[in-house]
Amino acid sequence: MTLTVLGIETSCDETAAAVIRLDPEKPDGPGEILSNCVHSQIDAHAPYGGVVPEIAARRHVSIIDGLVEQAVADADINLTELDGIAATAGPGLVGGVMVGLMTGKMLALSLDKPFIGVNHLEGHALTVRLCAPLAFPYLLLLVSGGHCQLIAVKDHGLYETYGSTLDDAAGEAFDKAAKLMGLGYPGGPAIEKLAQKGDATVFDLPRPLTGDGGCDFSFSGLKTALRVRATQMQPVSETDLANLAASLQQAITDCLVERSHNAMRRFSQDRSAQAGDNAHLKFVVAGGVAANTHIKTALEQMCDKENFSFHVAPPHLCTDNAAMIAWAGAERLRIGKLSMLNMAARPRWPLMELNRL
Ligand code: KG4
Ligand code: ZN
Repeated sequence: MTLTVLGIETSCDETAAAVIRLDPEKPDGPGEILSNCVHSQIDAHAPYGGVVPEIAARRHVSIIDGLVEQAVADADINLTELDGIAATAGPGLVGGVMVGLMTGKMLALSLDKPFIGVNHLEGHALTVRLCAPLAFPYLLLLVSGGHCQLIAVKDHGLYETYGSTLDDAAGEAFDKAAKLMGLGYPGGPAIEKLAQKGDATVFDLPRPLTGDGGCDFSFSGLKTALRVRATQMQPVSETDLANLAASLQQAITDCLVERSHNAMRRFSQDRSAQAGDNAHLKFVVAGGVAANTHIKTALEQMCDKENFSFHVAPPHLCTDNAAMIAWAGAERLRIGKLSMLNMAARPRWPLMELNRL
């Protein structure tokens, strides 16, 4: 019997609802996406150069009901055919999280269906399994606007963090740099586009922490270095801007690749200690920054060298969406890990805390 699950996502500036189907005979995926509705609030936040929490929460309130209706209609099912309702319960902007969480709880209660409060990061971490079969364990680089982490994904809800950012996330570095360069919000796609016309060797930006053998990240120095370079040359020409974008993208790419390389060494040592030398090693990149083609290509080349298979979801499933929340909810539903209806919205909720749930 397949499991059909509605997912709701409201943790940042995307209001999203989706319906997916999990076949328990294919527990490692892929699933089937029956509908995937995303309403981006970019236009509302763009004038401020970043997400304004109060505006985001109000927008979620006005849009979520219609979006859920749309997702169910697009999936061509009745609400009664759902086997479970999943909603992001954190981490994220808490006003927004509460909107989706309350909507999900209310639907579950009124339809008398199981409810699953999903960790947004777990949604990103499992999306590759929605797209293609992929068994645990795997090494995950989770790179988004709020998070930058290297994590060993060992099993359902069993995570070990190898490294995290000490300050800004990679997506945040793209966004802050883009704001500084007058490119608008969100910064990642704008910088990627501009970088195609630029020369990455023109500005020698720092690669913080590289060479120390570890798996942590630090991106705030990069942003400061960019500001210093930009203020040194006035006026800044179109070519300068393109070169700055390319140099920034390259510096971020180099950090992500070098830190991932260190994590691969550690992951393969851990694996060979447990599973013998011929264990198949897998590397996954997820989160909004994984939509960046330059970064994906560099990571894939590193994987080829290190004998890791490389896995990434299509770009529209790397950035925030509700299909990933529905899928993570369905995975939990399959193994009976349900949530109580009094579950609280959590602004902070590290993946490691799921190890106990
Ligand atoms: O996963 P996501 O949609 O939301 C969070 O959970 O944070 O990630 C959004 C982040 C933003 O910082 C955005 O600038 C970045 O992902 N991003 C990109 C690209 N597309 C989105 N960064 C670099 N290149 C891209 N093509
Ligand atoms: Zn996200």
